[in-house]
Amino acid sequence: MEQELSLIEARALLEWQVELGATEAIGDAPLDRYEAPQTIEKPAQGAPANAGGRSEGDHPQAVAAPPPLAAEDPGRMLEAAVSEARAAAAGAATLDDLRAAMGAFSHCDLRLGARNLVFGDGNPASPVMIIGEAPGRDEDMQGKPFVGAAGQLLDRMLAAIDLDRASSDAASSVYITNILPWRPPQNRDPSPAEIAMLMPFVERHVQLAAPKILVCMGNISCLALLGRKGISRLRGSWMQAMDLPVMPMFHPAYLLRNPVMKREAWADLLELRARLDKG
Ligand code: URA
Repeated sequence: MEQELSLIEARALLEWQVELGATEAIGDAPLDRYEAPQTIEKPAQGAPANAGGRSEGDHPQAVAAPPPLAAEDPGRMLEAAVSEARAAAAGAATLDDLRAAMGAFSHCDLRLGARNLVFGDGNPASPVMIIGEAPGRDEDMQGKPFVGAAGQLLDRMLAAIDLDRASSDAASSVYITNILPWRPPQNRDPSPAEIAMLMPFVERHVQLAAPKILVCMGNISCLALLGRKGISRLRGSWMQAMDLPVMPMFHPAYLLRNPVMKREAWADLLELRARLDKG
């Protein structure tokens, strides 16, 4: 039965779900249950027709559900997505162009479940570009990276070495982005395919912002930019990516859970400060 919801009804339904506590997307893409094909269970061979407990009268003409459409080759789909991302990123001449190109990129299903595209925050003229993992709930709601509890800790860490994302003076500012611009459902880790198809945008982002130093916050960022995981071993030593010096650091969300590691984070911040002071 086709039904159109009025805006008022749709809003009432949403509010009802929120009251029940359903405030999070749990799938990567929204699912329209009205449009989903009806699957009809076929009794196993030799099993009685009502083995599932239904009376035989439930499905008078029990028909096998049509076979699923031929699955497309995921490897080739990813290749196509990556080359489309490369072309779109290369065509962006400014950060605004890049944001628009990412907004128009249709291959990553995370966008369907996200409220906002989280592009960047801070001063793009800064010598320091911080690259995190992916937006969480607060970032998704506000459309800015690192604004939740981890972001507030990050701001305090930066303030301790005289850096401030809100500073209009390039030398004392930072610029912040993430590997993924859309929040993964339930804050799950980004998949390798998601990272692969979004990396061309990250690389172009770095080219356009043209920082002097990159900071990789956490394992996912290290994996994407350095091709290496194991932040406990990587942190604290300068590495190289995209012809730039890279400082891998503990993610502030990890520091919130493991405050004893703040000592190491402080050492890394001092190392970053010293490199900036050297010019
Ligand atoms: N964690 C991240 O890696 N990025 C954000 O923007 C927020 C939390």
